[in-house]
Amino acid sequence: MAHIRVLPELLISQIAAGEVVERPASVLKELLENALDAGATEIQVALEQGGAKRVQVDDNGAGLAKDELPLALARHATSKIGSLDDLQGVATMGFRGEALASIASVARLSLTSRPGGAPHAAMIRAEGGAGSAPAPAARAQGTTVLVEDLYFNTPARRKFLRSEQTEFGHCEDVFRRIALARPDVAFTLKHNGRVSAHLRAQPMGERAAALLGRDFLGASFPVDASAGALRLHGLAGTPQAARPRADAQYLFVNGRYVRDRMLSHAVREAYRDQLHGERQPAYLLFLDIDPRTVDVNVHPAKIEVRFRDSGGIHQFVLHALRRALAPAAGAAPVVYARPADSGTGFQPGFQPGFHLQQPAQAYQSFMAAATAAVPLPETADSAPLGYALAQLHGVYILAQNEAGLVLVDMHAAHERIVMEKLKLGLDAGAVARQSLLVPALLSVDALDIATAEENGDTLAKLGLETSVSGPNELAVRAAPALLAGGDIAGLTRDLLRDIRDYGASEVLSARQNELLATMACHAAVRAHRALSVTEMNALLREMEETERSGSCNHGRPTWYQLTLADLDRLFLRGQ
Ligand SMILES: Nc1ncnc2c1ncn2[C@@H]1O[C@H](COP(=O)(O)OP(=O)(O)OP(=O)(O)O)[C@@H](O)[C@H]1O
Ligand SMILES: [Mg+2]
Repeated sequence: MAHIRVLPELLISQIAAGEVVERPASVLKELLENALDAGATEIQVALEQGGAKRVQVDDNGAGLAKDELPLALARHATSKIGSLDDLQGVATMGFRGEALASIASVARLSLTSRPGGAPHAAMIRAEGGAGSAPAPAARAQGTTVLVEDLYFNTPARRKFLRSEQTEFGHCEDVFRRIALARPDVAFTLKHNGRVSAHLRAQPMGERAAALLGRDFLGASFPVDASAGALRLHGLAGTPQAARPRADAQYLFVNGRYVRDRMLSHAVREAYRDQLHGERQPAYLLFLDIDPRTVDVNVHPAKIEVRFRDSGGIHQFVLHALRRALAPAAGAAPVVYARPADSGTGFQPGFQPGFHLQQPAQAYQSFMAAATAAVPLPETADSAPLGYALAQLHGVYILAQNEAGLVLVDMHAAHERIVMEKLKLGLDAGAVARQSLLVPALLSVDALDIATAEENGDTLAKLGLETSVSGPNELAVRAAPALLAGGDIAGLTRDLLRDIRDYGASEVLSARQNELLATMACHAAVRAHRALSVTEMNALLREMEETERSGSCNHGRPTWYQLTLADLDRLFLRGQ
């Protein structure tokens, strides 16, 4: 039997590097964030061979004292937080005290720095974890971090590096996101000695124009809305200026680029009805929020956050953006309070049912309002969710069971069922797929094409088969059978984005629930119409099946029980 042992420091860092340093672009992201945390106003980036050979970042920030240099490379050493309380309100980009140590464990790193007031600079080198003593060096105030030969000592990881052009593309993504978030800072980007971006400190609109194109600026509404400590500002592209590709969608939370289903859902909802078919809105939005109400310590690369009041933020973003997009429509005043805060005092003993991972995407769009009165079944026997009585505004099913009234969110329930079925398929190896008679086409960029080509196996597992059909176009030739008739192009676009941002292995493992939820939300076409009683009852029976199959309880409920006693209380009966 193997003995348990404590791992050597270097190996520990290399394991941590597996999460943080996925490719050269991740190195660039960490170095840029450190420069910003140091208060730099000018940052120069120089890359070679897509960053695999060299990533160098120069800044004019606060710098580091000579005796602090070794600490900067030590694991769990940071100047940014000192207590749990600091962590909970963290306002810097970094806080884990891990990035430089992780990078140094899988590359050759040198750190040269001179703090304000110091007579000269000092430099330290580290190679595969082993560091040198600090030595004097020449440099003006600020810091230079040079990272060379990424993965020189971990050949298995080096194999995962893609072509120079692809890796540079990922670096450009990172650079663009950070430069968009900080127009007050000047940036330069060089690749193989050639300048590919030169940005002086400038107002946000000019920065957006420089990085996203003049037409973006010309065809966007300014957004600036506040509610309490929440603020949403930035630029929202007009529906007319929507693009074939989702390549200009930027959302930052407290200056950090994040991927968040709830936020993108709110944005999509705001644009819904204004966009035609496959068109993708362009936007550059900054959500500022009290750092104490958002947890940034949920993902090693900090690309995800968790909001304390995600329902309230969804409402805020949706309405702020809707008003910005329809300034002349005489929008009604917006109330941001959630029902739970409305203070009616009526809190019936609802039994939450099983839950969906995330808000359903097409929640409001999926069906024409239709209320159909239907005859009661002869026997309201033991079916746990009872039998359908009616459909309310095309959104809810009202059903009667032994205990009283059951309310079902049809769309959420349907998504939940699809999600469970997809999960079964994935657990068994691959999601069942179906060839498309007419391939679904989507406009993409070069990185999307590279992502699709490199991850054919993953896509196949998810029931998708794609091929390149043009320099900027992918054709989807097969799609998950369960989602037939759904928004296949949108589904593919979302999955490619996730794989591009998180990597295929993470999407299939740690993010599997989000993945399935993403897939399921492209499914609910059949809910675009009123359901017959038979269909409603079939849905109720399927829900019972799904629930029995042991689903996890996250997100919002798909049904509520309102008992006769609850109703009696409501009508003050027997009191
Ligand atoms: N460009 C820089 N200028 C000044 N100090 C820096 C710079 N880069 C790193 N440091 C110092 O080195 C420390 C370690 O950096 P590192 O990126 O490893 O950790 P962090 O930024 O504190 O947290 P995280 O792991 O979340 O990025 C920082 O806390 C900071 O004090
Ligand atoms: Mg850092």
